[in-house]
Amino acid sequence: MDLGFESLRDRQRTIMSIPTYRKFKKTDTEAVINLWKTCKLVVDWNDPLKDIKRKLSIKDNLFIIGEINKKIIATAMAGYDGHRGYIYYLAVLPELQKKGIGSSILSIVEKKLYKLGCPKINLFVRNTNIKVKAFYKTNNYKKQDAQIYGKRLIDDN
Ligand SMILES: CC(C)(COP(=O)(O)OP(=O)(O)OC[C@H]1O[C@@H](n2cnc3c(N)ncnc32)[C@H](O)[C@@H]1OP(=O)(O)O)[C@@H](O)C(=O)NCCC(=O)NCCS
Repeated sequence: MDLGFESLRDRQRTIMSIPTYRKFKKTDTEAVINLWKTCKLVVDWNDPLKDIKRKLSIKDNLFIIGEINKKIIATAMAGYDGHRGYIYYLAVLPELQKKGIGSSILSIVEKKLYKLGCPKINLFVRNTNIKVKAFYKTNNYKKQDAQIYGKRLIDDN
């Protein structure tokens, strides 16, 4: 009879371990999308699979994942367009949040962008995502005096 001890042990191991960080591999796709869904980062108007495929086509190695015991527990998708750096899909598994992992993966992509000569990072926080504002403030991000304008060139749905 499966009493769930193995999965309980895995869960405990996951909570107590320190993450390692590496660049995203195609085989991570399903686990990463599941993490994004768990973190409520997937919205109707964005197809996460298409977002991943587009990112990989750029080949900039700025899509980073954090893992513990081979389980993907964090992501950050960064980019640099020659003027500004961007960070998308910053996520940490809910049960591991508020342990410094979000700040760690953020600092890793910041260093990668800095090495590329990127002078400034901009990022978007949805108006509905209020609690994340404290996280960015702690990490020295400031609200900008600007409005975001967007125009869709490809509909994902
Ligand atoms: C945002 C996110 C990546 C932060 O990851 P994290 O591992 O929890 O962040 P950290 O532990 O490094 O937090 C550092 C500091 O940020 C602040 N902070 C983080 N989460 C917070 C929350 N929910 N409420 C208030 N402050 C918070 C705290 O000051 C915290 O320091 P403390 O632990 O000493 O209190 C994580 O909450 C997440 O995955 N959220 C869902 C997805 C999301 O909204 N992503 C951002 C899209 S813009």
